[in-house]
Amino acid sequence: MAAKLKIRVDQDKCQGHARCKSLAPELFELDEFGNAHETGDGSVPASLEDKAWLAQSNCPEIAIEVTEE
Ligand code: F3S
Repeated sequence: MAAKLKIRVDQDKCQGHARCKSLAPELFELDEFGNAHETGDGSVPASLEDKAWLAQSNCPEIAIEVTEE
């Protein structure tokens, strides 16, 4: 079985560029300061894995961690 992906936004690094939110709105939520948080527990549905990698590679602060479980 393929590994499942999980995402996490490092709050020390996130500067609110919000590219993650525009690229993968299902996976990220913005707080009142404009910083992103992973939706729910960060688990990525198989259908959104491409978007998870896309968001990670487009964050200018390298704040998004994608791990395989
Ligand atoms: Fe933050 Fe990067 Fe998204 S800076 S808002 S995690 S694009």
